[in-house]
Amino acid sequence: MQISTKFSEIEESGCIAIMPTRMIPNMHDDVRESLLNQPRSLSPKYFYDERGSELFDQICSTPEYYPTRTENALLEKYATDIINKTKPEQILELGSGYSVKTRRLFDACQNISHNCSYAPFDVCEEALVESAKKLAKEYQWLNLKPLLGDYNAGLGNLPAANGSHLYVFLGSTIGNFERHEATAFIQELYKVMRVGDHFLIGVDRVKENDVLHAAYNDAQGITAEFNLNVLHVLNRELHANFDIDEFTHSATFNTDEERIEMRLISNSAQKVQLNKLNESIHFEEGEHIVTEISQKYTHSGIEEMLTAANFSITYHYEDEDSYFSLVLASK
Ligand code: SAH
Ligand code: TRP
Repeated sequence: MQISTKFSEIEESGCIAIMPTRMIPNMHDDVRESLLNQPRSLSPKYFYDERGSELFDQICSTPEYYPTRTENALLEKYATDIINKTKPEQILELGSGYSVKTRRLFDACQNISHNCSYAPFDVCEEALVESAKKLAKEYQWLNLKPLLGDYNAGLGNLPAANGSHLYVFLGSTIGNFERHEATAFIQELYKVMRVGDHFLIGVDRVKENDVLHAAYNDAQGITAEFNLNVLHVLNRELHANFDIDEFTHSATFNTDEERIEMRLISNSAQKVQLNKLNESIHFEEGEHIVTEISQKYTHSGIEEMLTAANFSITYHYEDEDSYFSLVLASK
């Protein structure tokens, strides 16, 4: 079924495709711009093909990756409070992945017999489809509206329900933006929100270097596999010939910038062909590609980011160790 309306289109998978509100480069132009120039980098959204989403899901259950279990524990503890404070008609989640932690909010709705709809928004169709299937079974009262799209292309076409909204952005995905981009993103969200709507954001905090380092260098090597998977994506999508074994995962904490920097380092001097672009890249031994940053924030830094976008802070939840923040804000 392919129904076209002005702002959206229903995909065969049942997902609603969200139309961009501004032009963003396609993968070809994007890669041309970022990977073929110095400093070499790649947009983090290319991590999340089907395999990438599965690997990220596995990262979340490694003993070293504390953000997921800390955020989940915060949600477990405070979800009823959050739902009571917000009573949303619709929960719309940005970068929902497999919607694992969001279930704590649905559990809370169930506990106080509050019905709502859930609109998960993600760039990975496989993750949306698989989790919608499971959620439909587990929460039969939940009205599901999976939204497929790229939040970098604007938030203006997100479908609005009638009543109040709870917008959710978990997993410290905000940290994958540079600071100024993060503020701009939150400002953009503020614009599409209506007075009385709420925003729940999960943000990872600045902490000891060794804890941070371990979280992005797990002993099983899943994070390394996740990082390297982006080269498989380029091989498939651009008919490139990256030799995955000729690159090494690196994640280090930059104490000045207060962020994890994820890189892929070339093990040798090598030439890689990008056939669909009719280009090739020569890598020196030790030359790197920046694949992701994960910005960490202080307690006040998070509140400054939100208030700079005009949000009012409703409540700032955190764990005993101050490892992770869950902030409820409103317009
Ligand atoms: N919210 C989940 C998943 C976090 S991983 C959690 O907390 O565990 C980041 C998620 O954002 C992935 O599911 C990825 O597919 C999605 N994502 C990344 N870039 C995106 C973009 N530009 N537009 C929409 N979704 C994006
Ligand atoms: N939002 C996650 C974070 O910044 C994304 C992430 C976790 C990630 N581990 C990663 C991205 C490893 C790339 C590589 O914590």
